[in-house]
Amino acid sequence: MALVDDVKIIELPKFTDPRGNLSFVEQLKHIPFEIKRTYWIYDVPGGEFRGGHAFKQNEEFIIALSGSFNVIIDDGERKKVFSLNRSYYGLYVPSGLWREMEDFSTNSLALEFGSMHYEPDDYIRHYSEFLTLKHNGKI
Ligand code: TYD
Repeated sequence: MALVDDVKIIELPKFTDPRGNLSFVEQLKHIPFEIKRTYWIYDVPGGEFRGGHAFKQNEEFIIALSGSFNVIIDDGERKKVFSLNRSYYGLYVPSGLWREMEDFSTNSLALEFGSMHYEPDDYIRHYSEFLTLKHNGKI
């Protein structure tokens, strides 16, 4: 029964170094779940958007490894836009929230960690269905 206010920007460790900077993430530390899946979105043409869906159970953690994009979170009542534009910030998104990604900059790279293996039945791909489940307290 997550709400937009449950979505958190998490600052990751950053080692600045004249040789190049380094950041990292660890599961159950910076990422508040065990990682079952990692995927990335790249080569997004200008004006495209991705990820118009909600997960019933899967939690996720999103990093803009390169470039920038916006993640729009919607809990059925309120929407909030999170701009990711640094590789040392992650966005934790609990399950049960509608989310879209847009305004990808050229050469941006979105890295996503999930708490579940790929499971098509966990996806809610129609906004009307999302609203019905949300308003009935099912997600
Ligand atoms: P899809 O979920 O439609 O992308 P978006 O995040 O923009 O909604 O995923 C695109 C395709 O990739 C789809 O056919 C399913 C497949 N896919 C996997 O097989 N495994 C995965 O972990 C992910 C994220 C997608």
